[in-house]
Amino acid sequence: MPSRVEDILMGDETLFKDITVFNPDFIPENYLHRELQMEALAISLRPALKGGKPVNTVVVGSPATGKTTAVHKIFEMVAQKSQKVATAYVNCQLYNTRFNIFAQIYQQLFGFLPAGTGVPFSRIYGEIMKKLTNEKKALVVALDDVNHLFYRKNANQILYDILRAHEVFPGVRTGVFCVISDIEFRFMLDKNVSSIFIPQEVIFDTYTWQEIRDILDDRVKAGFYPEVLSDELLDEIVDFTNSTGDLRVGIDLLRTSGNFAEADASRNIERKHLEKALQDFDSQSLKNTINNLTDDERGLLEVIVGQRDDNPTAGDIYNILNENKPLSYASFDRALKKLEFMRIIDTKFTGKGKRGNTRLIMLRFNHEDVEKYLD
Ligand SMILES: Nc1ncnc2c1ncn2[C@@H]1O[C@H](COP(=O)(O)OP(=O)(O)OP(=O)(O)O)[C@@H](O)[C@H]1O
Ligand SMILES: [Mg+2]
Repeated sequence: MPSRVEDILMGDETLFKDITVFNPDFIPENYLHRELQMEALAISLRPALKGGKPVNTVVVGSPATGKTTAVHKIFEMVAQKSQKVATAYVNCQLYNTRFNIFAQIYQQLFGFLPAGTGVPFSRIYGEIMKKLTNEKKALVVALDDVNHLFYRKNANQILYDILRAHEVFPGVRTGVFCVISDIEFRFMLDKNVSSIFIPQEVIFDTYTWQEIRDILDDRVKAGFYPEVLSDELLDEIVDFTNSTGDLRVGIDLLRTSGNFAEADASRNIERKHLEKALQDFDSQSLKNTINNLTDDERGLLEVIVGQRDDNPTAGDIYNILNENKPLSYASFDRALKKLEFMRIIDTKFTGKGKRGNTRLIMLRFNHEDVEKYLD
């Protein structure tokens, strides 16, 4: 008889009509509620299709507002409609040197990477520009998550390489779409690049509850068999997603609750599966939060987690830390406030102690989980 483990691995029963629909790089067929932004991008590209220069554009919006999807969609449409424009998409988190970025552009224009190791940058660059000149094509490069170039301080150089190509290769028409996910980066862009780059701005605002509902509902229909998820549970997922402001959370919850239901050999997603998915989400976000702490904050958290019995007071914890390595009370307090702000701990005034301001420290997660992620 097959074991339960085998059943889970090999069972034919599935709730997923198409599980790839929940993958992070999935491009949805229906791209909802972004007509205005798509029109704005089309307006930027239009001159290039008519033999002119594309309009440089900044695409700004919070994480998971559909910026990357929009760029892929519009580039796909351009490829179908016109032979006059070449487009290249570059993920600057992955490719952030001058050489790597132009190798990516080269690959998307020629269909293969530049041959041989040690090809000089100038050769790749020259071949790209010659191809554009010969074929009378404009070039639009999307630099996604362009903020990664600010850290390397090469944003200006790369924009210069792209936008001033016509000075060396007369007649070449080039433009860029810079994609950024934080308003702060918008200012950094102005600070980091000179006046060669004066862009149009296209804003991707966060989705409303109803928009999230429509998008997730569409994903449910594409990914699950009918009636796998009730409207009521979908609404709950939408509520939660809306409270985090991050559409990806909703898509992940759909996938994980589907997985839990399937492992349970259930024919549909039940509340307990969603609850498990939410717990899973909590511990994932705890893990991320812990990974992003500074060394001092981690040190503090380690000491707090070490106090198994009662809820320790802030004073106890300070004394332990200070014994190991002298530390000012102000920096201790700052780290403590940060942990509270990150919702890893709660603190509570007891009304006892000097001036009644003894604080108890309570861990909001179980000790084992926190310890696991601290390792
Ligand atoms: N309007 C939409 N319709 C359908 N799916 C969408 C829509 N907007 C976003 N999504 C989905 O949400 C997820 C995040 O979208 P995307 O990667 O395009 O966001 P982003 O703005 O580039 O985020 P980040 O700033 O983190 O890079 C993807 O799975 C995408 O398919
Ligand atoms: Mg993106």
